Amino acid sequence: MKKITPAELAQQYEHIAAVCRINDAKLTRPGCFIRTFGCQQNEADSERYAGLAESMGYEIVDAPEKASLILINTCAVREHAEMRAMSITGQFKHLKAANPDLIIGMCGCMVSQEHRLNQIKGGFPYIDFLLGAGMMHRLPELVHSRMNKDKRSFLLDEPEGCLAEGLPVRRESDIKAWVSIMYGCNNFCTYCVVPHVRGRERSRARADILAEVKELIADGCREITLLGQNVNSYGKDLGSEYDFADLVSEICELDGDFILRFMTSHPKDASQKLIDAMASHEKCARQFHLPLQSGSARVLTAMNRRYTPESYLSTVEALRAAMPDIAISSDIIVGFPGETDEEFAETLAMLERVRFDMVYSFIYSPRALTPAASMDGQISAEVKSARMNALLNCQNAISLERNLAAVGSVQRVLLEGASKSDESMLTGRADSNKLVHIPRAGADALVGRFVDVRITRAETFALFGELAD
Ligand code: 5AD
Ligand code: SF4
Repeated sequence: MKKITPAELAQQYEHIAAVCRINDAKLTRPGCFIRTFGCQQNEADSERYAGLAESMGYEIVDAPEKASLILINTCAVREHAEMRAMSITGQFKHLKAANPDLIIGMCGCMVSQEHRLNQIKGGFPYIDFLLGAGMMHRLPELVHSRMNKDKRSFLLDEPEGCLAEGLPVRRESDIKAWVSIMYGCNNFCTYCVVPHVRGRERSRARADILAEVKELIADGCREITLLGQNVNSYGKDLGSEYDFADLVSEICELDGDFILRFMTSHPKDASQKLIDAMASHEKCARQFHLPLQSGSARVLTAMNRRYTPESYLSTVEALRAAMPDIAISSDIIVGFPGETDEEFAETLAMLERVRFDMVYSFIYSPRALTPAASMDGQISAEVKSARMNALLNCQNAISLERNLAAVGSVQRVLLEGASKSDESMLTGRADSNKLVHIPRAGADALVGRFVDVRITRAETFALFGELAD
C-alpha cells in the first residue's frame, strides 16, 4: 500500500491554488456537477470529490447544464450500473459541443477496467480524464492540466492501492456521515469485480479515524456509519493487535449523542468479540448487515465465500443471543452460474429460516476479470428473473411480518427531514435502521434529533408512527 505523503498532497494543493486563481477570475463562480452511481463507498468518495471541487473554487450545482466541471462517479458491480453511467455520459456530449471549456471526468470503479479504458479513450473523445477510485487525491492535477489544454489523462488504480488522508470533504448531511475506515478488498468472491478495481485492503490509521469521528461528533453529527468492503478485517494489514471490535468499542465510548453503524461485514470474519462489543455499547446500532449471497453450500463454495450455511446460521444465532432486538439484513445473488432449482430453493429455505428484516437481492451479472463470468452453466435471463420474483415474494412477506412485530412498540428514531414521497411526513431511521415516518405537523424543529416514536402501522419497507409522550 502506498500512503500518500504530505509532499505529494502539497503538490495537489498547488494545483488547487492554481485552479482557484483561474476560477476566481471568472465573472460568476463556475459550477461542478457530480453524478454518483453505486454503493455508500462511492457516495463517500463523491463527498471528497465535492470537497476538492469546492476548494478549487467551484460551486456544487444540481444540474449538468449549470456546470463547468462534470464528474461521473461510476460503479462496476453490475452491468446495469455501468450501462447507465455510459448512457448518461453520452448525454453530456452535446454540453461539451456547446461549451468546449467544459471539463468532463469519469471516476470510480468502472474506469479501472482495461476494456473500459480502451472504449472510453477511443469512443468518448469528449471525456477529459479518467480517475481510478484510489487516485482521487489527484483530481486537482487533472482538472488543472485540462484547463491548460494538456493531453487527456488516464490515471487508473494500482493493485496495491493508495491511501490519502486530509482531503477536503463536503458532506451531504449535517446529521449523518460516512467514515471510510478501509479501502479495497482481499476476498476475491468469484462473481465480484471490486477486488479487481479497488485494489487490496488498506486500513486507515486508528488515530486518523478517531480524529475524523471526534470532529463529526463535535459538529453535532448524530449518526456515523463506518464503511469498508469487509470491515471485519480492519487493521489486519496494519499488523497490529487492534481490530475492528476494538475500533467499535473505542468510538462508542466517546462522549456525545450519536449512533454508530457499520457495513459491510463478511460472514467468515464476523467474530464473537465484535458481537460482544456491539452488545455492550448502547451507542452501537442494533443492526447488522451480513451478506449471505446464497443458501446453498455448493454455490457458496463456487462463489469462494468461505463459510457454510450452518456457520452463517451460528453467527445469526450468536447475534440474536447477544442482542434479541437486532435487525439483520442481507444481500442475495440469484442465478449464479450453475445454480440449480434445488440450490435456489435452499436460498429460499434460508430466508424462511433466518427471517431477515431486509434483503437486497441482485440478479447475477457476469463481470469482466472475474472467474464466475467464464464458468459453465450461465443461467438464462428468464430463469434469473423468475428466481428474483420468487425471492422477492418470499422476502417481502417476511419483511412485512418483521415490521408488523414492531407495531405498538416505542422506537428511538433519528429524524432526518421531510419524506421524499409525502411532504406532510417526516422521515427518520430507527436504531434498527428501519425507515420510520411520522406526521410532520409541529415536528420540523425535531429534525436532527433522536425522538421516541410509537409505531402504529407497518408496511413491507417502512414503519409509521407518532411522537410518544
Ligand atoms: N452480480 C450480481 N450481484 C453482485 N454483487 C456483487 N457482484 C455482483 C455480480 N457480479 C452484489 C453482492 C454484494 C452486493 C454489494 O452486490 O450481493 O454483496
Ligand atoms: Fe466483492 Fe466479496 Fe470483496 Fe464483498 S467481500 S467486495 S462481494 S469480493
